[in-house]
Order: sequence, then C-alpha cells, then structure tokens
Amino acid sequence: MNAPDPLPSIESDPHVGEVLLSEEKLAERIRELGDQLTRDYAGKAPLLVCVLRGAYVFLTDLARATDLPVQIDFIAVSSYGSSTRTSGVVRLVKDLEVDLTDRHVILVEDIVDTGLTLRYLRRSLEARGPASLEVCALLARESADLEGLGVRYVGFTIPGDFVIGYGLDVAERYRNLRYIAKYEPDADTAE
Ligand code: PRP
Repeated sequence: MNAPDPLPSIESDPHVGEVLLSEEKLAERIRELGDQLTRDYAGKAPLLVCVLRGAYVFLTDLARATDLPVQIDFIAVSSYGSSTRTSGVVRLVKDLEVDLTDRHVILVEDIVDTGLTLRYLRRSLEARGPASLEVCALLARESADLEGLGVRYVGFTIPGDFVIGYGLDVAERYRNLRYIAKYEPDADTAE
C-alpha cells in the first residue's frame, strides 16, 4: 500500500500569499497594545476573555505584553453557515467559567469583520454585570464600524482580503503561521 502524499510544508503551501503583517510588525504592535493596557488598567486585575479559536495566539502574546495581574478565560461562538462567510446567526459553543460580576473584562478578538460576533458577545457579557467591558482586536476591517461596536483597542485595520495565520484559519489550517498573509484560494496545489 502506498503511503499518502505528505502535505506541503506550511511555508511552501501555494495558498499562503503575500505577507501582510510580519512577525516583527505583529510583535511591535502587540508590545504597544500591552503597554497601553498596562497604563489603562494600572491597579486593576482585568480578565482577558479569549474568543476561540482565532484569538488564541494573539491572547498569549498580548497577555505577556502586559505588566498586569491578568486572569484568562475562554469563550467560543460559532456562526451558522459556510466557513468563509459570516451567516448572520451566532450561537454560544463554550461559555466562560469565571463570574463576570464587578470584573474589568477585556474581550480579545483576532478580527472584527462584519461585527456580528462582537455584537452578540457584547450583549451576552454586558448582561452579566461586569465593572467594565472593552474590546481589544488585533485586526479590524476598514469597513467595520469600530465606534458603533465600542472597540477601544485595535492592532491594525486591513482591507477586505482573506487573511490567514497568527490564529486565523481556512478550514482549520494555517493558524500556526507566525505571520499574517493573504490567502490565495485559486493557487495550484498538489493536494
Ligand atoms: C472569526 C473571528 C471572529 C469573527 C469575526 O471567527 O475570530 O470571531 O469571525 O467575524 P464577524 O465580525 O463578521 O462576526 P470564526 O467564526 O472564523 O471562528 P474561529 O475564530 O474559530 O476561526
């Protein structure tokens, strides 16, 4: 029996396109965001809420970029419908374990696109009585209404390209790329 062809190495995968945000650029901006949070939350012990799965890489670097006694918890939501387009309906897949009452909560997202996920999460978390609730997103689409969505901290605003890496996936792949790149859906592949 022949062994299946190995998958291409992630770096040589033809779907991995132009690098939009290098490792260095991400690290530099996350250091700035960490400093900003450290100043803004001085004397407080905020709870960082990671929105699974995409935000897990950003959260680990962001948490270590702060000099605060942060606590971490995880929440997971899913949009019904196809994998590359937001369908309009969000449901809770995994809830937090920490009680939010009187806590300073920072919701950590990898990307704000239509804002649908964030609107849902805001409603859900605000109803639990936190002392404060802010959002820190690594990426936001230029088209996103950040003011309306109440997003205080943003790493980068980006155009509409489909992006992968640093937590962001296509069909659960590419999350472990160390940088953010364009996804090339039509690239030739040996798969
Ligand atoms: C992505 C991303 C945000 C959401 C943003 O999650 O992590 O949570 O979409 O899109 P919106 O602003 O249009 O709602 P996705 O559903 O791809 O799941 P994942 O984080 O597990 O990759």
